Amino acid sequence: MRVPLEALTGHGQSLDATIDKERCLGAALAISMKIAAAKFGGRGYAYWHFDANAGSGHNDVADVPGSPVVFHVAADQHLNGMRRHAFFCDLNSDALLHLESRLAPWRALSRLHLYDNERCLDIFAECIRQSGEQPRYALGSVIVDPNGYWYRNKDGHGPPTKSLIRFAQEFPRIDIVLNLNARTFRLQRAQGHPVLSPRDVLGRLNKSNWLIRRTCYGGDDWLLAVGRNVKTGDHRRIGFHKLESAEGHAIMTMIEGRRQRGMFDADRGEEQRP
Ligand SMILES: C[S@@+](CC[C@H](N)C(=O)[O-])C[C@H]1O[C@@H](n2cnc3c(N)ncnc32)[C@H](O)[C@@H]1O
Repeated sequence: MRVPLEALTGHGQSLDATIDKERCLGAALAISMKIAAAKFGGRGYAYWHFDANAGSGHNDVADVPGSPVVFHVAADQHLNGMRRHAFFCDLNSDALLHLESRLAPWRALSRLHLYDNERCLDIFAECIRQSGEQPRYALGSVIVDPNGYWYRNKDGHGPPTKSLIRFAQEFPRIDIVLNLNARTFRLQRAQGHPVLSPRDVLGRLNKSNWLIRRTCYGGDDWLLAVGRNVKTGDHRRIGFHKLESAEGHAIMTMIEGRRQRGMFDADRGEEQRP
């Protein structure tokens, strides 16, 4: 018998994992911004940002700023000399109301959308086209942080699974940051849900370079993945490894729930001593 998906995804993110996630999102965005600003800063170019699961701008449980605030703080520091266009999308009207007040310092640079992210990402793409920018040269980032895995439930909650694949083809220089619940993936797969594996998800998003990181707290673990079409270092200091490296391979093996001798126990999130 298949267990309803909601029963698998009802758990929230733990406090430590949330603090860690926001820190790593900030670091990942800062790297994208530094690359863009180093090449194109001061020449009037735009940096486009889309947050598909924006939330309220603050995580009350962990008491840390949420991804939209993390974005603007990083941009204030690193996007020197670039125009900034930031789109924040969420289905939850309360979350967006709170977000609006939290983004007051950056009001002129932010657009808030009470939409399903599938549709809103298409609107974002159209805004870039209408700005006169050539899609293949447009610079920026997209964050997808749905709380669950690469899966939309019957109410449409989740990531923009269809439009992001289209978007990635048309806008190769816009980096993609994914934060996906890996334990949910393993549970969904075990229940026979038709979910793509994490490797297949990354493989559909038209990026030649992926940095990946696994975070685990309590019973949950997340895959944080940053996809770009330019090469960067691996950023081991904050736990990111190249997908194709030995460490990246080991991380993916754990995320996908396959065992590797001397590595980690994927379900308990603990290091296994040989
Ligand atoms: C994990 S929270 C996001 C947290 C936020 N990124 C942060 O760092 O503070 C997930 C959010 O996705 C929103 N969401 C879920 N499905 C959505 C959809 N289809 N379109 C837009 N927002 C969605 C939820 O309302 C929720 O606010």
